[in-house]
Amino acid sequence: MTTAIYPGSFDPFHNGHLDIVLRASRIFEQVVVAVAENPGKSPWFDLKTRTALCEASVGHLPGVRVTGSRGLTVAFARAQGAQVILRGLRAVLDFDYEVQMAMMNRHLDREMETFFLLTSNRYSYLSSSLIKQLVDVDAPVEDLVPEPVHRHLMALSRHRT
Ligand code: PNS
Repeated sequence: MTTAIYPGSFDPFHNGHLDIVLRASRIFEQVVVAVAENPGKSPWFDLKTRTALCEASVGHLPGVRVTGSRGLTVAFARAQGAQVILRGLRAVLDFDYEVQMAMMNRHLDREMETFFLLTSNRYSYLSSSLIKQLVDVDAPVEDLVPEPVHRHLMALSRHRT
């Protein structure tokens, strides 16, 4: 059984991430969405919230599992029985960073393969950072994120006003 781990900050999970999970679930028997603690990034949402929002967005899909992760991705991937690290690629902008990360992961674990899926055109401009910028100025994000994430973002906006 081929298991792919899909690691990321998911701060928050958006429709571009959803697109990758849906398409990967048609390729791999199991997809594990690994929500990274990633302390270097000072996320908007804590690990528990980010994991819960991913779970609410994709946890019901067959062959998809969501979990929080800490530490090295390759070690976590092995512990989950994964053979593949899955990453979405939007544009040339992502390329350098993603290749560097894939090579570092291969240096850390020779047998762990990185698998890139090109983001569908209609989501190629999406990023969690841009979504947070929109939320910050109360601009609509309904079409950009799964419904559970949207509900959470709206509750957050109401709380601030
Ligand atoms: O969504 P992001 O922030 O681009 O995801 C980056 C992530 C979490 C996949 C990456 O930072 C990561 O794997 N962090 C865990 C620590 C690690 O394994 N570092 C070595 C990989 S270069």
